[in-house]
Amino acid sequence: MEKFIIAKGDKIVSQGLCISRLENNKVLFIRGALPNETVKCRVLKETKSYVLSEVEEIIEPSIFRRTPICSYANNCGGCGLAHSLYEYQLELKKEIVKDNLKRIAGIKLSDIKIIPSDKSIGYRNRIRLQFKSKLGIGYFSQGTNYLIPIKKCLLARAPIRKLMPYIFFFFKEYKVNIKGQIELISPPKDTNVFCTISTNESKKAFKILEALIQNGFIKGGALLSKKQIFIGEYTLRWPYNINLRDLKKEFFIETKPGSFSQVNWQQNLKVINKIIHEAENIVCNKVVDLYSGFGNISIPISLLGKEVISVEQNPLAIEALKENIKKLGIKNIKIKCDKAENYVKELIKNKKNIDLLILDPPRKGAKEVIKAIKNKRISHIFYLSCSPATFSRDIKTLLDYNYKIKEIIAYDFFPQTYHVETLIHLTNRL
Ligand SMILES: C[S@@+](CC[C@H](N)C(=O)[O-])C[C@H]1O[C@@H](n2cnc3c(N)ncnc32)[C@H](O)[C@@H]1O
Repeated sequence: MEKFIIAKGDKIVSQGLCISRLENNKVLFIRGALPNETVKCRVLKETKSYVLSEVEEIIEPSIFRRTPICSYANNCGGCGLAHSLYEYQLELKKEIVKDNLKRIAGIKLSDIKIIPSDKSIGYRNRIRLQFKSKLGIGYFSQGTNYLIPIKKCLLARAPIRKLMPYIFFFFKEYKVNIKGQIELISPPKDTNVFCTISTNESKKAFKILEALIQNGFIKGGALLSKKQIFIGEYTLRWPYNINLRDLKKEFFIETKPGSFSQVNWQQNLKVINKIIHEAENIVCNKVVDLYSGFGNISIPISLLGKEVISVEQNPLAIEALKENIKKLGIKNIKIKCDKAENYVKELIKNKKNIDLLILDPPRKGAKEVIKAIKNKRISHIFYLSCSPATFSRDIKTLLDYNYKIKEIIAYDFFPQTYHVETLIHLTNRL
């Protein structure tokens, strides 16, 4: 039998869940509620210490509640904060970062600066969708493998948005009886859409890509299975606008589909320009950029004339980085295709110095790397993260290793969702 609880939301925590305390002292997590509102919620799961629930009915709404502009918002698992005003989303994200830093790292901040996104919709230059036999395309509902078919996503850039209904019907009509992921990519300033498909069924997926190109839906893309196969036109051009002290630099980095790219380009450029601005005022010669991807941070920072080492494990990203530094005539970047943790251990063994370390790891963070640099005195560290939890864990370790916080800023890369990016600048105390 279904169980319902009436409760008042207290604060937002990770995953965009609102928490409340029940009379039996269990923590109640409510999906879809905001702080200070009273809701009736349906219990989804109950354990000895907590109850997970979702909103069934709003009894007393928050003054910051609004009706989401997207009809999929409550189901598709993507936009966990779309039911609140954008300015309030920023406040909630500050709370999420502060809460993680306090609970996990013991850092108590009274406030944290957050840089809003210029666009609150239409900002994503790539989206990753699921497809499963004949359902069309869609997202998995939060925390499940249950596909919610969708024909539009308001977070995507206009070229992707316009194309989505066609891709949706194509997958249904074409009776795609395989499962996998499809990524639609449209770099800023580009009106074309490129596509990657990841699945175990390479032959069928290749035919799908061919048909998408022949029907004029996409320009080209790649099949990303054991082997990568590229098809059609597939050069992605990422535009950079970098402010150095005395001049502005504009250039493109070209990549193939298949390496990581930041989804919110304006925010990405703000972070890079912030790092450049700080690095200009630091006495340092040797910069190591771990988890460098195709050189999103390495290439701009190399413009300062410092010696840069880029470390990345994805060979596609490394190939793009090599080609781009050649094309841009950059001579001060050395490239290592390796796991960051292996590279750092080697660095320690060889007693090589680093003045500035840049870390931009995936969601799981950089635990092993941080452990390895325990006895290394690095003057400055910039750590950029999309996971407040692993970020806080790693920062705690760095504080234990005698680093101190110079500055910490949150950037809203992902409006309407509960995700947030955080940048910290640490310096060595010793
Ligand atoms: C969040 S992305 C950042 C990429 C790049 N800094 C950027 O801004 O575009 C993380 C990158 O780390 C890479 N990566 C993941 N695990 C890694 C590891 N253990 N060692 C090195 N690179 C790794 C991924 O391939 C991806 O390119």
